[in-house]
Amino acid sequence: MDTHVANEIICRPVHPTKLVPSLTEDVTAGLFASSKQLPPKYFYDDHGSALFDRICDEPEYYPTRTEDALLESSARDIIASVEPARIIEFGSGMSRKIRHLFRACSELECYPTYVPFDVCDDVMIKSGEELTERFEWLDVAPLSGDYTAGLGNLPVEGGQNLLMFLGGTIGNFTEEQGITFLSEMLDLMGPTDQLLLGADRMKDPDILHAAYNDGAGITAAFNLNLLEVLNRELDANFNRENFEHYAFYNPAENQIEMHLVCMSDQDIRFDALGRSLSFKEGDAIRTEISRKFTRETLEGMLHQAGFEVRSHYESYAYPFSLVLAAPR
Ligand code: SAH
Ligand code: AVI
Repeated sequence: MDTHVANEIICRPVHPTKLVPSLTEDVTAGLFASSKQLPPKYFYDDHGSALFDRICDEPEYYPTRTEDALLESSARDIIASVEPARIIEFGSGMSRKIRHLFRACSELECYPTYVPFDVCDDVMIKSGEELTERFEWLDVAPLSGDYTAGLGNLPVEGGQNLLMFLGGTIGNFTEEQGITFLSEMLDLMGPTDQLLLGADRMKDPDILHAAYNDGAGITAAFNLNLLEVLNRELDANFNRENFEHYAFYNPAENQIEMHLVCMSDQDIRFDALGRSLSFKEGDAIRTEISRKFTRETLEGMLHQAGFEVRSHYESYAYPFSLVLAAPR
């Protein structure tokens, strides 16, 4: 990965500490199998990240505005409790909601460095520029890489660290992956560091269904963009017109599942792999899970990973949790 420079916001690459499959390996294992699936990180090329940002403004997509309101009301409490010298945010995206924490930092005269960590450099640079314009004391030091590739090379130093994982992105992991990831974060933390975790909660399935099937079709475009990523990166020839976005709530697993369903037979060439694959009408690729927690399952997962809950902020109309947790 190249070092990226724009207006003094520099994205530093984080080198993996464990082997993660390449796109070629993920496609080989995930698409050339009878049950087809891909990891969600491939959604987030520049266009996919811009589409996700639009999803956040759709009226049906309650998580962003709900978590935003929770952060606004708890920001002073969180900053006063942690007094961070450094805020490290995993999967930071457009870093929109964090402004509430920085406002509290200004009021409490606490001036942490902000370290966003994401696969998409473009969003970190754009949002870093906006944030430094708004908070002139702020130093933004983005890290660029895949957070599933191990965190051992993260330049986390001493001093108070506040780690953050917002948006409900923990729900895009399986239970096992989620616990592994939380444990890896724990390994980075000193005894007085804290983690702020945002997680979506179970609620009326109709509300969940609407959130992943917005009327304007932005979530559908986000899902279908994955085919464009495969076309570009692997010289494939998916015709997105032949695929439908399909998202539903699976109550047995407490998760939303997003799929791309093939609507007519199509032979797909992957020129970069020198392989092709026959998609039949009705074949589906599972592109994402989005798990929905109860207060108990969320706290149980944190506990299993070695954390103790310090504060649990929650909303009720659209249940969502923000948990401040510390190493146990
Ligand atoms: N935290 C933001 C964005 C959530 S979208 C919010 O709450 O709105 C998920 C973000 O995680 C995207 O910005 C995406 O680029 C990033 N992401 C997804 N998989 C990743 C991975 N494996 N490594 C690093 N970043 C990842
Ligand atoms: C990033 N993540 C928490 C989103 C979610 O709700 O699971 C991704 C998303 N997928 C469709 N809409 C939003």
